[in-house]
Amino acid sequence: MTENLFDIKIGYATPKNPVAIASMAGITDSSFTRRFQKAGLIVLGGYNLDERTNEAARKEIARGRKEFVSDKPFEFFEKELEATEGLTTIAVNVRASTAEPFVQAARIAKEHGAILEINAHCRQPEMLELGTGEALLRNIPRLCEYIKEIKKTGAVLSVKTRANVVDDVELAKAVEKAGADIIHIDAMGSDGMDPRVIKRVRNSTGLFIIGNNSVVDFESAKEMFSHGADMVSLARAVLSSPQVIDHLVDEVIAFQSMTGWYNAPKHICAGGDLRALAFCCPPVKPCALHGALKKIGISAEEFVKMKIDFAKKTVLEPGDGTCFGNMTWCCKITKPCFLRDTVLTSTRLSDVEYMRIKKKMSEHILKQRKIEG
Ligand SMILES: Cc1cc2nc3c(=O)[nH]c(=O)nc-3n(C[C@H](O)[C@H](O)[C@H](O)COP(=O)(O)O)c2cc1C
Ligand code: SF4
Ligand code: SF4
Repeated sequence: MTENLFDIKIGYATPKNPVAIASMAGITDSSFTRRFQKAGLIVLGGYNLDERTNEAARKEIARGRKEFVSDKPFEFFEKELEATEGLTTIAVNVRASTAEPFVQAARIAKEHGAILEINAHCRQPEMLELGTGEALLRNIPRLCEYIKEIKKTGAVLSVKTRANVVDDVELAKAVEKAGADIIHIDAMGSDGMDPRVIKRVRNSTGLFIIGNNSVVDFESAKEMFSHGADMVSLARAVLSSPQVIDHLVDEVIAFQSMTGWYNAPKHICAGGDLRALAFCCPPVKPCALHGALKKIGISAEEFVKMKIDFAKKTVLEPGDGTCFGNMTWCCKITKPCFLRDTVLTSTRLSDVEYMRIKKKMSEHILKQRKIEG
């Protein structure tokens, strides 16, 4: 019943829902993750692909950290993919000190229908010394060179980043231009999750975004979704309460079934990203809408015409009794409003269908932007 509920497609990868387990070195291998088949995505690893990164990991183990090490990294890598076959969509988070091991791993990942994830996140000094992990964030030309080489294999590629280390928008744009499919952002702020990073990246790229950091329940997942994340991932919460994944998947499924747009943005005036233009009123008063339109280079008049023309092709045109006489200007479905709901009932438009049309409207508006965020 929930087969195509989310309709998520990233190249050949089709996660069944937008809830992922993020990688934790020394922990998230095939045997640890086996019990989480309900997750939409499991990120294995981080695995070390060459001798130098394996050696660095051994040094880390010697000082008490958990790591995965192997003398035959590619045999190990392939066995792990075989062991998780059929479980759910799999990604593998990897480190290497040169491009070639990434490329080799990408070929194997593709053969298994898995996603490869470059680890541009790890900040252990032994890895940084090799120019891998977070060091790649500070060497964007090198990161992009890796991405371009990996993408020649046709593998679906994710880049795991840590926010607020470099300019996240510039980073995301470079990663997108180089050809990556996914940006998996550890949205770490000074005090836990910083969803504004997700919003900035959403506003400036078309990358599939996995929002990570401090997601522990449906409320925190919604913070990520409503700022533009396509998927959320959890790491530490899986250790402290393993049942969190099943609960979260159930809640997101229920929410999507009721509303039709699980990652609908907050309204612009509530801090939402630009997709929320679909919920905006006509530009008749001073409010945050004007700043948003300026950001995309669209005038108030163009915006009005765009929305009205779009509504003509849909069932949003009726709206007698609503604030602006037309549901094209109406709020998201989770904002209670008996005026809109009366029109929805009389036009026999379901909440899910209403939100699906709003989603299409947001895509239509943003396609016509004259300035890239
Ligand atoms: C023990 C541990 C090991 C980790 N190892 C990796 C890793 O190998 N690769 C990676 O990209 N992130 C790694 N991370 C980071 C997590 O994937 C995640 O980004 C971070 O913990 C924040 O998410 P959370 O708040 O859900 O835990 C690790 C985190 C922990 C706690
Ligand atoms: S137009 Fe309405 S919904 Fe949009 S920012 Fe202004 S007050 Fe908020
Ligand atoms: S009628 Fe309700 S949903 Fe429509 S704009 Fe007014 S408050 Fe929002």
